[in-house]
Order: sequence, then structure tokens, then C-alpha cells
Amino acid sequence: MQIEISKIPVPEAYQWIVSLVAPRPIAWVTTLSPTGVVNLAPFSFFNVFGANPPVVVFSPTLKRDSTKKDTLINIEHHGEFVIHASTEPDIAAINASSASLSPETSEVDYVGKETIPSVLVKVPRLAKSPFALECKLRQIVPVGNGPISANLIIGDVLMIHVDPAILDKHGKVDPKLLRSVARLGGEHWCRSTDLFQMERPG
Ligand SMILES: Cc1cc2nc3c(=O)[nH]c(=O)nc-3n(C[C@H](O)[C@H](O)[C@H](O)COP(=O)(O)O)c2cc1C
Repeated sequence: MQIEISKIPVPEAYQWIVSLVAPRPIAWVTTLSPTGVVNLAPFSFFNVFGANPPVVVFSPTLKRDSTKKDTLINIEHHGEFVIHASTEPDIAAINASSASLSPETSEVDYVGKETIPSVLVKVPRLAKSPFALECKLRQIVPVGNGPISANLIIGDVLMIHVDPAILDKHGKVDPKLLRSVARLGGEHWCRSTDLFQMERPG
């Protein structure tokens, strides 16, 4: 079977691509609105792309009516955001925070979370999270236009907060303690419980 993207409707292309490129990690992102409301939303068009400096990219796409999501508007305004862990204990809250609320309503309150001040950015971070990455916007790259078109938010990680509870006795992150979850196609999610290790070739 072959699918030529230019011959299929955009929503169908979306379903194919998110079902095939899976699982994807989920950035749980706080931003600050122009009027000071703390916004919280999950994004699985997300990954990390280097370490010198550590750089993250995620993509709030345009909505089905081609308007911008609050997260994009907020980052355009303040140029800062905080990415939090998406882990098993929070799956219900992560999902609930994807609800379309008005820009004046904070998803943080809506999902029953609390925030505390960040250190290097003005955007507050979740008070309880296995990790949080304070990020400064480097560049926004819009790709395409219209519904579900990408807006690549490229950000430098300035500060990493880590809960010692996810560390092993050597001070390294233990994936069994972190308990990351990820997104696949449709309504599918996965846990990171079926772990294995392999030595890399020299
Ligand atoms: C697990 C999960 C992953 C998501 N990933 C994305 C994504 O990568 N890009 C996107 O635009 N929307 C994504 N969404 C939908 C947004 O979270 C949703 O549109 C949200 O309302 C955006 O919030 P905002 O308008 O406050 O920015 C995802 C939703 C869920 C539940």
C-alpha cells in the first residue's frame, strides 16, 4: 500500500502519520498568557534534538479553524515555557488539560494542580513533577498553513529540575521510577514498563 500525501485530505494524513510514528513522548507545557493566566497543555509532536545547548522542539499545530492554540500565542508573547514530565500518575490530568478552555481559564486549576515560581523564566512550573525543563524560545518555524499545520517551537533548556525520587542509587534517572507515558495513534497511549538494555557497538 502506498499513500501519496498530496492525494489525501489533511485529517487522513494526520491519522496516518501519528499512528505510524509512535510512540511519541509528551511535553506537558506551561506558558503564561499576555494577561498572566498560566496555561497547561500536552503536546506529543515533541522531542529533544541536541545537548550543546540542550534543545527541545514541540509543535502546537493550528486548530481545525486555522486559529492559533493558546500555547503558541503565549510563547509568541513571552518567549518562554516550561516542559514537564508526562508520567503514569498524571495520565488523567494530562488528558484533561488538553480540553479547549478559554484563554482566561487556567488548565492548572481545572486539573487540580499547583504551580510554583520557576528560577530562570517568568512562566511558573508545576509544583510536583518528576522533572521540569525551564526553556527560552530560540525560534518559531511555521510549516505550511491551515488546519493542523505545524508551528515548530524551538527552545533552549536553561534549567532542569529533577525530583530525587526518580534517581537510582548512583544518581542516574531510573526509567522504572520515572514511569514515562507516550502517545501513539488514535486514542492509544503506552507506558514504559517493557524495558530492555542493549550495549552499543564501539
Ligand atoms: C497526549 C496528547 C498529545 C497532544 N499533542 C498535541 C500536539 O503535539 N500538537 C497539538 O497541536 N495538539 C496536541 N494535543 C492537543 C492539545 O493538547 C489541545 O489542542 C490543547 O487544547 C491545546 O491547548 P492550548 O490551546 O491551551 O494551547 C495533544 C493532546 C493530547 C491529549
